[in-house]
Amino acid sequence: MIEKKFGIIGKPLSHSLSPILHNYWFNKYKILANYSLIEVELSEIEGVIKKIRNSELQGINVTVPYKQSVIPFLDLLLDDAKATLSVNTISLNEEGKVVGNNTDVYGIENGFINKLNKQNLSNSTVFILGAGGVVPSVIFALSNKGVKKIFISNRTYKKVEDIKKRYPFIEIIKWENIEEEIEKMDIIINATSLGLKNESSFKQEFKNTKPNLVYYDIVYNPEETTMIKKLKKRGIKTFNGLEMFICQGQKSFSLWNKLNPELDEELKKKITSKLK
Ligand code: ATR
Repeated sequence: MIEKKFGIIGKPLSHSLSPILHNYWFNKYKILANYSLIEVELSEIEGVIKKIRNSELQGINVTVPYKQSVIPFLDLLLDDAKATLSVNTISLNEEGKVVGNNTDVYGIENGFINKLNKQNLSNSTVFILGAGGVVPSVIFALSNKGVKKIFISNRTYKKVEDIKKRYPFIEIIKWENIEEEIEKMDIIINATSLGLKNESSFKQEFKNTKPNLVYYDIVYNPEETTMIKKLKKRGIKTFNGLEMFICQGQKSFSLWNKLNPELDEELKKKITSKLK
């Protein structure tokens, strides 16, 4: 039998735990396959997609900064990928078409939003920080769940303006005004890379938050960002992005292999041991 090949494209990729997740499941379910890191430049994306077209590669995940830039090379966008114009899972369908899907929306819904009190959600004001590749999926998932209001802020203003063109119901807050606007928010979602391993943290203190604020960090490596540590000390409820990461991976795996993989204790241990 020929070994199937999967991987993740992005840059940088050193922080990615996707190989651990998928290779664990391939092993567990006795699928002859391997999942690797494929660090590429923008100009190399077309070549990677060609490998899917000619079945050298069976499937890829896409991470920062290429979730939008892969789209011109695909034949078809499905479901949430079509709605968000953000692709994180690619494969060849039975008609030989290269298909782009999005499992981040599923990840955000199942790894985070479903853990919140549903009734409160419709009364919640959410503040998204960042305007990178995952943000359209965050907005789409939140608006599907009927949150009351979404605010957004990003260091580079132009990028939030572009996002607002697609989601006119969101309201922009200037990066300089975060500290004074924070008292309005019920949920804050950090979708920037601030706090990521080896990256800097927020300069803002998030001083005047509501006491019942929920803070969600899409970062999962480290498990506790500086901001999570700080807010936890103040008794604020915090989540990291680990469950979202695992849920998006489960859905990608099931799209490729037609099998829903399980998050068992051994896998949890394996992943946790890689985080610090
Ligand atoms: P991309 O924007 O290339 O898709 P990303 O990792 O998805 O990459 O997004 C990175 C996010 O973190 C962006 O919102 C970025 O803000 P800019 O749009 O201004 O670059 C944000 N970010 C990264 N470093 C930051 C910093 N030092 N301060 C504030 N925001 C930062």
